[in-house]
Amino acid sequence: MGSDTDVVTGSFSYTGQYITRRLLAAGRQVRTLTGHPRPSHSLASQVTAFPYDFEHPDLLAESLSGADTLYNTYWVRFPHGDLNYDAAVRNLQILIHAAVRAGIRKIVHISIINPSEDSPFAYFRGKAQVERAVRESGLAHTILRPTVVFGPEDILINNIAWMVRTFPIFMMPGSGNYRIQPIYVEDLAGIAVAAGPSAESEVLDAAGSEIFTYRGLVERIAQETGRRVLLTETPAALVYGLGTMLGWLLHDVVLTYEEIIALKDGILYSVLPPIGTTRLSEWLCSHKDRLGREYRSEIKRHF
Ligand SMILES: NC(=O)c1ccc[n+]([C@@H]2O[C@H](COP(=O)([O-])OP(=O)(O)OC[C@H]3O[C@@H](n4cnc5c(N)ncnc54)[C@H](OP(=O)(O)O)[C@@H]3O)[C@@H](O)[C@H]2O)c1
Repeated sequence: MGSDTDVVTGSFSYTGQYITRRLLAAGRQVRTLTGHPRPSHSLASQVTAFPYDFEHPDLLAESLSGADTLYNTYWVRFPHGDLNYDAAVRNLQILIHAAVRAGIRKIVHISIINPSEDSPFAYFRGKAQVERAVRESGLAHTILRPTVVFGPEDILINNIAWMVRTFPIFMMPGSGNYRIQPIYVEDLAGIAVAAGPSAESEVLDAAGSEIFTYRGLVERIAQETGRRVLLTETPAALVYGLGTMLGWLLHDVVLTYEEIIALKDGILYSVLPPIGTTRLSEWLCSHKDRLGREYRSEIKRHF
């Protein structure tokens, strides 16, 4: 590596902060691109923040200039305002071109499990388009495809626990017997940072060491949080309708229709051997006191 500096998108957000901590611990200098500079964040004094200036590719290239590796976590979970998946794909194409112009050596890109340009889901199609842009950039790259990422700041598993704590009934879309294989955020960050120095290009599924059914996961969360909850098999459209109403009350998007169907289609797991080692069951047990105490809002986090 020629430079002692790397760039991480979202150093003050979720996965990016774990990648950043590991890079700093390894003696690397870190710059971040972010929409929220967060001066009070514990990493703020150690990281130089630049805006996501997708409208000005020259400035974006300047903020990347002289750095070695770009660790990209940028993506949008659901369309909001002007920012939809097509816009996120365009933004990332601009970022990747800026990285090439800035002389970045390698991109470590966080994608999603099972992306496909033919997917019925716009999220997974957009992710596949970005992966293509990374592969066609000519830069060395590692593409990591996580399933669901669990950890102290995660939204999905925390909010399942919040619902289990809040309501006597938990409505699962369909049977609940579809698979889900979450990976621990520290494992994902460790794999990302280990991939940075290598000149190899590779695409890896990033899945955890335990496969749950969705029903089994909810039951496990209920057990750990000491709640008795009735799990009911519910049509996906009804789960979506009720989730949307709950979202109005919480000023958030609880789950998108795509997320419900993707979950129900069981695509959030990997057919390959897992590369995450931390067991979700053990993590749930050690975090049961805090898990789901408060609802976590994606809208509040990003808007
Ligand atoms: N979390 C999961 O369970 C999960 C599962 C599978 C794949 N992934 C993928 O892993 C990557 C990181 O996920 P994460 O949950 O750790 O993301 P995150 O930290 O919440 O966000 C990552 C970056 O994207 C930016 N961002 C997110 N939503 C945005 C929005 N609506 N408008 C503008 N900027 C937005 C954030 O901006 P700020 O810096 O301004 O906060 C941050 O820089 C993503 O590519 C995601 O698709 C995540």
